[in-house]
Amino acid sequence: MIDKLSLDYKLDYDRLGYRLNSNFSYLFNLEETINKPYNYVFGYFEDNKLLGFIHIVLTVDEADLINIVVDSLYQHKKIGTKLIYYVIKRFDLKALTLEVRESNDAVKFYEHLGFEIKRTIPKYYGNESAYLMKKVI
Ligand SMILES: CC(C)(COP(=O)(O)OP(=O)(O)OC[C@H]1O[C@@H](n2cnc3c(N)ncnc32)[C@H](O)[C@@H]1OP(=O)(O)O)[C@@H](O)C(=O)NCCC(=O)NCCS
Repeated sequence: MIDKLSLDYKLDYDRLGYRLNSNFSYLFNLEETINKPYNYVFGYFEDNKLLGFIHIVLTVDEADLINIVVDSLYQHKKIGTKLIYYVIKRFDLKALTLEVRESNDAVKFYEHLGFEIKRTIPKYYGNESAYLMKKVI
């Protein structure tokens, strides 16, 4: 089941987000994030356990994908795919854009879902460049 993430899941959200950034709970504080305009965080749940989440920022009929993460024990079960298609459908998105580290395996995941590399952003992550990727729906 996919649903908006509530503060009840803050600990699990922080635990999953730690995979993305060791300062995740500070940088993407759940309470602040879900109260920011145009920001949406949806969780993927099985038996009330949070297995993954997606955070997007809406811009009219497009969105920026800020974070997506799936519990490492539950990867390759299409949870990430379901989260992406859920937000596309829910907001009737015409495009979805993101930045990702060049070296991140997630680049393959995004390409599999039809995202294209639009350009490289040098030193976006300090010592590492990012790809700007976009999926037009
Ligand atoms: C990227 C991530 C969200 C993908 O979630 P997932 O639920 O495991 O992905 P899915 O099962 O929906 O994958 C769909 C397809 O994408 C491709 N794919 C997914 N992960 C991949 C990987 N690590 N390497 C290569 N291809 C991959 C595969 O083709 C996969 O299909 P298959 O398993 O049948 O071969 C997950 O691996 C994750 O949380 N990674 C760590 C956090 C992260 O890097 N997030 C992105 C930050 S920008």
